[in-house]
Amino acid sequence: MQEVTTITRLRAAVDEYRRTGATVGLVPTMGALHEGHLELVRRCATESDVTVVSIFVNPTQFDRADDLAAYPRDLDGDRAALRGMDDTTPDLLYVPSTEQMYPSGDPVVRVSVGGGLTDRLCGRSRPGHFDGVATVVTKLLNQVAPDLAVFGRKDRQQLQIIRRLVTDLDLAVRVVGVPTVRETDALAISSRNRRLSPTEREQATVLARALASAVAVARQARRTGGVLPLEALHRALAAPFDEMPEVRVDYLEVVAPDTMAPPDAAELAPDTRLIVAVAAEVGPVRLIDNVELGDLDDEDRLLEAVR
Ligand code: PAF
Repeated sequence: MQEVTTITRLRAAVDEYRRTGATVGLVPTMGALHEGHLELVRRCATESDVTVVSIFVNPTQFDRADDLAAYPRDLDGDRAALRGMDDTTPDLLYVPSTEQMYPSGDPVVRVSVGGGLTDRLCGRSRPGHFDGVATVVTKLLNQVAPDLAVFGRKDRQQLQIIRRLVTDLDLAVRVVGVPTVRETDALAISSRNRRLSPTEREQATVLARALASAVAVARQARRTGGVLPLEALHRALAAPFDEMPEVRVDYLEVVAPDTMAPPDAAELAPDTRLIVAVAAEVGPVRLIDNVELGDLDDEDRLLEAVR
């Protein structure tokens, strides 16, 4: 695994691979790599000849200085985790500094995603967050110029925003979404989990359990051939949190996958694709999770983990 820290060296290395006719995949990360990231790297390796992993804790996507300061950083651990992947170890690790990424400080030109995609769910409680993500992802895509870029479905709103960014700006890259990896107790794997105390860690499983309750309601509607009962979905989603007052809910939402807005039809077919998304604070940590109703693989993975 070759490591580069500048755009010049990155481009030289990618050009070298391109000269051999290789396809290039990018896995953008903020480091503190865990099994979820490694799954993205494995997927990238199955779909491209060369895998580039970037590690950059992007300041423009943090709305709170304390959150940025507390974000875990472990470059040595990250290198070791990637090297330990053996035949799927990335070919290239790109670790730019903040000065390399934003040479004139706070960027004057930013990519701003509107259309309601960014002001709901996580965008509501994290103003500016998705513009920061869209800006850095656009820069990374320009710097690496990959054929494909791989993102986790745990950050479902982010994935949808990136898909829209790529479509609306005609970027020549294929976006691949990878299923959420879960701990044995179903908690979605996240770099933030390591900040949870053992008690909080147990409380945090309520997110996945709540999503599983919503899946059960949708499956029942499919079995009986009725319409998708949105109110019952919301009730099922909220109920597990009523028994866990220590967990502070930010949002519990049922939204359409393409718009991230509540579905506008009053009556929905039972197999309608909908994202059920939750965000909650457990102790000092904000956690998110989601499931895509109507995506049987995604539903099965969640139910299997919660069982
Ligand atoms: O999901 C993340 O880790 C970040 O938001 C990303 C996509 C690497 C941009 O900084």
